[in-house]
Amino acid sequence: MECRITVLCENTVVGLGLVGEHGFAALIEIPEQNILFDTGQGIGLLRNALLLKKDLRDVSRVVLSHGHSDHVGGLLAFLEIKGPCPVTAHPEVFRERFRLADAPGGARVPVANGMPWPRSYLETHGARFDFQRNFTQIASKVFITGEVPRETAFEKGSARLVVSRNGTFVQDPFPDDYSMILQTSRGLVVVLGCAHAGVVNILCHAVEKTGERRIYAVLGGTHLGLSPEEQVDPSLEALQQFDIQRLAVGHCTGQAVTARLAAAFGDRFAFGSVGFVLEI
Ligand SMILES: [Fe+2]
Ligand SMILES: [Fe+2]
Repeated sequence: MECRITVLCENTVVGLGLVGEHGFAALIEIPEQNILFDTGQGIGLLRNALLLKKDLRDVSRVVLSHGHSDHVGGLLAFLEIKGPCPVTAHPEVFRERFRLADAPGGARVPVANGMPWPRSYLETHGARFDFQRNFTQIASKVFITGEVPRETAFEKGSARLVVSRNGTFVQDPFPDDYSMILQTSRGLVVVLGCAHAGVVNILCHAVEKTGERRIYAVLGGTHLGLSPEEQVDPSLEALQQFDIQRLAVGHCTGQAVTARLAAAFGDRFAFGSVGFVLEI
């Protein structure tokens, strides 16, 4: 086995007793170690791992895709059963963040959706932060993208996801948006968190940094379900230009875009729900 990726938290489930939540987490097993990529929002991680027979005490490193609470919210529960553990993340992962929600009268109100705990609190519970900004190898044939250059014209992100700057809310630039890249004999496997950097930007970056043009599989959240409508068509078109053999997306892809991807990719598509396994 080169790698086995099991989805532990996602919006949908395929199995008795598993729980769904708006969030994402995946266990990446490679021969010499297990890596936990994201932790969901803190509802299903431990339960789902138990039911899927994954002992999270065997995880040797956590990687956080970005600072949104639906990806980091299970970190404390994980540390409570694991104890001291390296946590790879971008230094901006602790930045205060908000989603602009609709309020009566057409107003929009900021709802905090960033990291729920300060760094020192997580360190007290065993987090050993390993901050990285750039493309970095973290295990044999396993990499984090680091900061992803925004190259495409159409991947503009969501104006509702904001940070506070000089007393006003501005669109979150998400420098911390990481994805995972695994180099396998069949090509790259890319595991997205929320793809705030744009799924096409991320895949281009993965190809450029590894020199491997074959993308075998893409898993995780594409954010296309929460992106402006004008981003969806060119993103789907560009995705089809890559010769992807397994597309198992979900989370912030949303049901409508997921259905379109299922139709476009046919038997190369799978729903990346809790319990989904990709093994090479
Ligand atoms: Fe997300
Ligand atoms: Fe996010």
